Amino acid sequence: MKGIVLAGGNGTRLHPLTFATSKQLLPIYDKPMIYYPISVLMLAGIRDILLISTPGTIPQLRALLGDGSRLGVSFSYAPQPEPRGIADAFLIGSGHIGGDDCALILGDNLFHGAGFPEILRTAQEELDGCVLFGYPVTDPERYGIAELDEHGHLMSIEEKPLQPRSDNAITGLYFYDSTVVELARGLRPSARGELEITDVNRIYLSQGRARLIELGRGFTWLDAGTHQSLLEASQYVEILEHRQGVRVACLEEIALRMGYISADECYSRGIEMKNSSYGHYVMDIARSMA
Ligand code: DAU
Repeated sequence: MKGIVLAGGNGTRLHPLTFATSKQLLPIYDKPMIYYPISVLMLAGIRDILLISTPGTIPQLRALLGDGSRLGVSFSYAPQPEPRGIADAFLIGSGHIGGDDCALILGDNLFHGAGFPEILRTAQEELDGCVLFGYPVTDPERYGIAELDEHGHLMSIEEKPLQPRSDNAITGLYFYDSTVVELARGLRPSARGELEITDVNRIYLSQGRARLIELGRGFTWLDAGTHQSLLEASQYVEILEHRQGVRVACLEEIALRMGYISADECYSRGIEMKNSSYGHYVMDIARSMA
């Protein structure tokens, strides 16, 4: 399965923070925002990852992440000159996807919860069309919203409805089979001029091939698109890391635990950051698993 992180857009809701830098490079507590969605793909066992961003941001992403070999994965990069919609990722990424299945994650989404790797594995094993993830929210008019019947089957999907039929938001993590590229090629821009991910999902739904996994209580999903949600995400990570002594979305740790790099390689990554507590954490993890 191939992975795509969509990390473009103008970040206008975060001005003036995003005049000179990209939203996805802003910190969420101790690491750049983009680490969080990358960590999800890596935890899903996906090692071939395309990062899509604005032409101006790609050199910065490359400086941060390189070709991925330091984490035992492959990162490639592709520009999205204009924010033409989330589903544009499949047109830009068509060569990367090839004939494979594909997981798409938005660059400002943070997922955290016990058992997440198992949930990701189930999603891949049971993929027949698309798998979406639902999460209860208090402000459903801000999201794609899923309506389920009493058996948990998807009934309808609406993008930012004025009168939401449920509070079940569709998160920014999507698994698709290889037909997604063909399907995206047939999309027309919406009234706001974008290729809508919700239109993709509705087509799968009309084919009876869309499934939603509910990420319920005990799970955390945050998107860091506003000043408040950015701060809340940082506070969440800080509290958790301070209290438990573990790091959320530490890419080096995930690479080690997933067997993508050796303990020696992980230790070397830590040494490179030895002046930071993050670097010390990476060294400690490497030592404990040597
Ligand atoms: O976060 C989940 C929500 O994401 C879903 O519930 C919605 O169904 C989905 O449409 C999307 O809603 P947003 O209002 O959050 O979408 P937004 O336009 O803010 O884009 C989400 C991220 O994707 C944002 O960080 C920028 C990036 N993006 C967006 C577009 C439209 C791109 O990189 N390129 C684009 O063309």
